[in-house]
Amino acid sequence: MKVGVLISGRGSNLQSLMDACATPGFPAEIAIVISNKADAAGLDIARAAKIPARVISHSDYPTRESFDAALDAALREAGAEFICSAGFMRILSDGFVEKWRDRQLNIHPSLLPAFKGLHVHRRVLEAGCRVTGCTVHFVRAAMDEGPIVAQAAVAVHPGDTEETLAARVLEAEHKLYPLALRFVAEGRTRIVEERVLIDGELASTQSILPVPPL
Ligand code: GRF
Repeated sequence: MKVGVLISGRGSNLQSLMDACATPGFPAEIAIVISNKADAAGLDIARAAKIPARVISHSDYPTRESFDAALDAALREAGAEFICSAGFMRILSDGFVEKWRDRQLNIHPSLLPAFKGLHVHRRVLEAGCRVTGCTVHFVRAAMDEGPIVAQAAVAVHPGDTEETLAARVLEAEHKLYPLALRFVAEGRTRIVEERVLIDGELASTQSILPVPPL
């Protein structure tokens, strides 16, 4: 399965997807990386691995729809059949989301549907949560919403700061995204009533990464 990866920044999830795709027998390959920001470090990660990388800057387009049309054209030109958003910080238009319906994944650093949006780890700490995590889900029009493919639980430790917690969740993200992409690329997922079945089962234990022991 040819995948287009959308990024806006650091690109550590992109790196984890690239590493997975480079392992023998992985059922997906990255056809193109697109960033809406020219200075995204993830672009260098892609270029160093000789993966086509393009900047499509949202500020060059008068409307969200015209930006999304350029994104769509670049993805199709590269032969992408599927999209992985990995730290892509733009809201996509309903039209784009519909075009790629059930063919786009996103990763979010919380156990959705809790803590959608920005500043997740700060809000998790403020709420006094003992457990947090990350989610890979199919993309729908509403931000950080859509059928859940896989989740990883991560413990909040005493004394955690936003930074230490973010780092621990990020480690889990790097395992979870390749796992979720594998399920989808192997054709093992099916969306029924907006829930994802894996091998015909809801909440397959294979799509849960447990809290590591303290
Ligand atoms: C990750 O925490 C991801 O869950 C969120 O944005 C961050 C992107 O990090 N959507 P990176 O660019 O993949 O390193």
